[in-house]
Amino acid sequence: MLKTIFYIIILIAVIGAAIGGWHLYRVAQRNAKEMAQYEGKTISAKPLAGKTLIVYYSLSNHTKDIAERIQKNLGGDIYEIKTKEKIKTTPWFYLTLKRQLSEKKYPELSGAMPDFSKYDTIFVGGPVWWYTMSTPMYSFLQQANFAGKKVVPFSTQGSNYGTYFEDFAKMAKNAKIQKSASFNNMPEKYNSAVDNKIAAWLNSL
Ligand SMILES: Cc1cc2nc3c(=O)[nH]c(=O)nc-3n(C[C@H](O)[C@H](O)[C@H](O)COP(=O)(O)O)c2cc1C
Repeated sequence: MLKTIFYIIILIAVIGAAIGGWHLYRVAQRNAKEMAQYEGKTISAKPLAGKTLIVYYSLSNHTKDIAERIQKNLGGDIYEIKTKEKIKTTPWFYLTLKRQLSEKKYPELSGAMPDFSKYDTIFVGGPVWWYTMSTPMYSFLQQANFAGKKVVPFSTQGSNYGTYFEDFAKMAKNAKIQKSASFNNMPEKYNSAVDNKIAAWLNSL
């Protein structure tokens, strides 16, 4: 009996690893295809008219990296969304955050909201959590009123942004939503291709 249970566990682990490996392989292929459009050239971003603010939330620095690259292209001010209590990355935090999203339990933020009235264009970026926005981004959007400002959403994710942008548009009060962009986490070898993707997107706004 114990032997059978052992073999079943091994079988499940092998099937899980095979599915995971196949998924990673497919994502790497899709990333390579997307990045091929941006490799081997240098695209420069044209400045945007008016003043720009770049707002981001980032738990593990991927979105921070994209936000900073946007700022490098456009200048402007940057604002980090911070939670009052640090989000704990326990071994089960993925599941904790999933439950908080489904219960609409969003964290308290620290610091004052930015003064949107000083800006013409506001970029707002965050990570995808469970195919939607992160809980701190929900907290931020609950408090924000964009009052007719141009708002440019962006996301970072492993591979699937789900309903992130629809959910963003529903929550972003009075925003004039502009063309969004989503960025899969990429290996370093695509760094300059990602720079070109950012510049091409900024030029399309
Ligand atoms: C709780 C949680 C849920 C996630 N869900 C998704 C998802 O649904 N789809 C996806 O492609 N990536 C998902 N990811 C991966 C993140 O979106 C990705 O690593 C992102 O770039 C992290 O951004 P950050 O470093 O700015 O926090 C998830 C990560 C976490 C922590």
